[in-house]
Amino acid sequence: MSDLIHHILIRPLEAAEPVPYGLLLLADPSEEQIDRYLPGSEVYVAAWKEQVLGVLVLSELSAHVVEIKNIAVEEAYHGKGIGTLMIREALAIARRRHYQIITIATADSSTGQLYLYQKEGFEITNIKPGFFTEQYSQPIYENGLRAKDQVILSKRL
Ligand code: ACO
Repeated sequence: MSDLIHHILIRPLEAAEPVPYGLLLLADPSEEQIDRYLPGSEVYVAAWKEQVLGVLVLSELSAHVVEIKNIAVEEAYHGKGIGTLMIREALAIARRRHYQIITIATADSSTGQLYLYQKEGFEITNIKPGFFTEQYSQPIYENGLRAKDQVILSKRL
């Protein structure tokens, strides 16, 4: 359906709902890392009717800073604006909670994601060289590039 985006509801994951690990793993290949940050985070889902098509995880880094820890959309629904909608919702939630800065981290090889985040007003504020080669046991490839550095982007709210 072409106007799908107008029917997407972003809402908190309910306590009785299963954690959408399949989606979370699209954004972060380490289940161990996910299980480490999930308990201290807020999880939102992008739902269409009964179907969960996207996930958004927000974690407080300090009293003023919140991080988008994980954002993912079901592959069959990429490119339909759901990712953009979730980022805008993350900004709205962060503003309502009076955070001053929102951050998001990705890999140097994640060209599409880097484009999306900058399009939504994030700027590159830090780079951690060798993060993906040192922290992950298996090499990660995207777009034919090996992920090496972690790129951190921030936006003032
Ligand atoms: N490759 C190429 N282009 C991309 C990509 C990508 N991986 N992701 C987004 N874009 C572009 C789209 O082409 C689109 O461009 P346009 O505005 O010129 O049309 C724009 O970004 C916005 O796209 P949306 O449709 O709003 O985004 P989508 O619903 O596809 O969701 C997301 C983007 C969440 C990154 C999705 O591609 C995804 O789930 N990817 C796999 C998981 C992932 O990489 N998550 C982010 C990891 S970092 C983290 O979680 C902190």
